[in-house]
Amino acid sequence: MPFRAAGVIGWPIFQSRSPAIHNYWMGKYGIPGTYIAMPVQPGRVGPALRGLAALGFAGCNVTLPHKERAAEIVDTIDAVGQRTGAVNLIVVQPDGSLSGFNKDCYGFIESVREQEPLWRAAGGPAVVLGAGGAARSVVLALMDEGSTEIRLINRTHGRTEQLAALVGGPVRVLHWGDREAALAGATMVVNTTNQGMIGQPALELRLHDLPANAVVCDIIYNPLETPLLGAARARGNRVVDGLGMLLHQARPAFEAWFGVSPEITAELRTSIEATLR
Ligand SMILES: NC(=O)c1ccc[n+]([C@@H]2O[C@H](COP(=O)([O-])OP(=O)(O)OC[C@H]3O[C@@H](n4cnc5c(N)ncnc54)[C@H](OP(=O)(O)O)[C@@H]3O)[C@@H](O)[C@H]2O)c1
Repeated sequence: MPFRAAGVIGWPIFQSRSPAIHNYWMGKYGIPGTYIAMPVQPGRVGPALRGLAALGFAGCNVTLPHKERAAEIVDTIDAVGQRTGAVNLIVVQPDGSLSGFNKDCYGFIESVREQEPLWRAAGGPAVVLGAGGAARSVVLALMDEGSTEIRLINRTHGRTEQLAALVGGPVRVLHWGDREAALAGATMVVNTTNQGMIGQPALELRLHDLPANAVVCDIIYNPLETPLLGAARARGNRVVDGLGMLLHQARPAFEAWFGVSPEITAELRTSIEATLR
């Protein structure tokens, strides 16, 4: 098998755990090659992606802040990428053209399925906090999974209106000041803001109106246990951490590049967890 390369573009990129995930799988499945973090400045995404074929890359992942720009550059784009206007996976085709995919929706839902197999989207309202790029993927994933009511709340209200218009479906736009009242009757809450991430303050959200049987998800994975997840766990709610989403979106990428469907082993999860705060 020829030596293969893949990587992730982002800015900044030093914090990415994707190299550790893909290099673990390359070793486990005996694929000769490497996966690297590539710092690509805003404004340089086009030249960077167009260089992939000549550099012998099988493809790359795309992370903040480049997912939307990459969606404009690729030659073909999958249905989820079209609906979100963002791609996080690029595959270099044999003719050098670039195929773009969005696997964040898949990663989020697979992580929920793995960590909370009894949860059903149609079981009741979901509350999504945030209206950035990740929120788009989470809202679409919940819709496709059968959610009948998604209560969407963001600090900057105009972005919730834009996201609701983009995705359509059963999205109810609420105001940031109403976020605690919005928890009443919910069966799931998802934090897609950056609040609670390492270097950021905790998300300000008291959970007293949240039913005890609701599942609380945070897509932040560093720290693994955000203040929100800690508070939810302390009052008896079940929780889904953000590392599962990262691991599950990586699986179809690895398979698309190297033809092997990789396993998320306990050893892999533990090794990534050991690098988190
Ligand atoms: N686990 C995974 O695989 C995965 C994948 C993607 C993203 N993520 C994580 O998800 C988070 C969001 O990513 P993104 O791509 O959606 O980023 P983004 O597009 O920059 O969106 C950031 C979101 O955070 C909100 N926010 C920022 N500061 C806030 C504050 N002080 N109070 C309340 N809300 C605030 C923003 O609200 P405004 O609109 O008001 O600014 C916006 O909704 C990041 O922590 C990222 O690491 C995880």
